[in-house]
Amino acid sequence: MTEGITTTQEFYTRYAALYDDIARRTPGVRGLRRAVADALDPDPGDVVVEMGCGTGANFPYLRERVGPEGTVVGVDFTPGVLAVARDRIRKEGWENVHVVRGDATRPPVGEADAVLATFVSGMLADPAAAVWRWAELVGPGGKLALADLARTTRTPYKPLNTIFRGLVRASSPPGTRSMSGSPTDILDSRLVAAHRELTNRCEDVRRETRALGFARVAGGRVRLGR
Ligand SMILES: C[S@@+](CC[C@H](N)C(=O)[O-])C[C@H]1O[C@@H](n2cnc3c(N)ncnc32)[C@H](O)[C@@H]1O
Repeated sequence: MTEGITTTQEFYTRYAALYDDIARRTPGVRGLRRAVADALDPDPGDVVVEMGCGTGANFPYLRERVGPEGTVVGVDFTPGVLAVARDRIRKEGWENVHVVRGDATRPPVGEADAVLATFVSGMLADPAAAVWRWAELVGPGGKLALADLARTTRTPYKPLNTIFRGLVRASSPPGTRSMSGSPTDILDSRLVAAHRELTNRCEDVRRETRALGFARVAGGRVRLGR
């Protein structure tokens, strides 16, 4: 479950419109979202569930992949971001895209062919357990993809980690700022835990690093057995 749930929901509700702009318009973010859809690689007709979907910035890329026969379901527990997502779905006339309010660590959906989560692992107290549940949800042969931010390990860009640390602190919901340990350390360790679990559960794992090494994308197919 997410720490500081109420403050997280208040934070994302208050800044939903601003977050939507950042999530869709930051330079390079479109390429990143396309890369996540590529890593997930759903088939036409699939049911794709996005955990912690926010304002729905990934929806166009997922829709493109599953086609008119497929379905995209976004799950988020924050009313404000879901309102923005619903508004977009209505304006675009996307009949095969739906959102549901719920906890991504206990997904309120019965079945899925593919599950993705972007910039969510760092908000979960136990991201490995969440990824484990998502793998259970899609079952063997189902697909998983994650994208998360963490400090870069690329030598030329390491000086930028100081700026990254400041941005992470400034953009963390208040509840997460008071957690013991630096928010950036926590973000790094949660990314590692989530991506390691994806590797444990999946085969044909594809990995990509983008945005000067700050963004890690991984996707794979859940293997038979554990
Ligand atoms: C940084 S935003 C990312 C939104 C979206 N995935 C994107 O790529 O733009 C994190 C989102 O995860 C949601 N979230 C965090 N923990 C959650 C949980 N346990 N269940 C459902 N939503 C959660 C927050 O409400 C927020 O909308």
